[in-house]
Amino acid sequence: MSGPDLRRAAAARALELVEPGMRLGIGTGSTANAFVELLGGRVRDGLDIVGVPTSEATHAAAARAGIRLATLEAEPVLDLTIDGADEVDDELRLIKGGGAALLREKIVACASRRMVVIADAAKRVETLGAFPLPIEVNPFGLRATQLGVEAALASAGCAGRVVLRLTPEGAPLVTDGGHRILDAHLNRIPDPEALSRALWAVPGVVEHGLFLGIASAAILAADIGGAAEIT
Ligand code: A5P
Repeated sequence: MSGPDLRRAAAARALELVEPGMRLGIGTGSTANAFVELLGGRVRDGLDIVGVPTSEATHAAAARAGIRLATLEAEPVLDLTIDGADEVDDELRLIKGGGAALLREKIVACASRRMVVIADAAKRVETLGAFPLPIEVNPFGLRATQLGVEAALASAGCAGRVVLRLTPEGAPLVTDGGHRILDAHLNRIPDPEALSRALWAVPGVVEHGLFLGIASAAILAADIGGAAEIT
């Protein structure tokens, strides 16, 4: 099975968790988009839910799919958030933010009673960190913040390059919140909790892509002889 088939299989399983009347956080990325498409089908068949999107991109996709949407101001407590991830370990610790939506994703996930991750099983890792860790920063004093981030990484036993994320046109990428993203290429993160604390202590860091103690379950789809096995 191809990657898109696996993402769709994980999304389809997550759809089984959705019940009428739920207030749903809706993630960002290609797997979350597969979920939006399937959820739209259920809504057209009469399912009544309200969704809170985690990005402008998801807002647009969900609106196109006919899903009724609300802001987190209107619905500050959600029943369930379904979202993708860039990496997931055996303790359900995640790296997120490959799509630059990590700030809203974390706010929405933490406003939810449950967050369930949907992903291709290839996202499962023993140790987080092969995927570059996204760090969302305020544009003011970006260079100074980057130096602070580099010192925080070193203090948490991580070594690697920190790179400002650019658009395909070569301009600094601007997030939905008007911030920038620094991607930390670390290979491995020996102590994610220590790194999280160290990054939060840097002025200018708005949020980072380590989701620790937030996800309650992961639906991972693997290709077993041409069929999707869900774990
Ligand atoms: C968006 O900022 C990310 O956190 C995504 O959830 C993550 O990158 C997974 O995306 P895919 O489902 O496209 O792999």
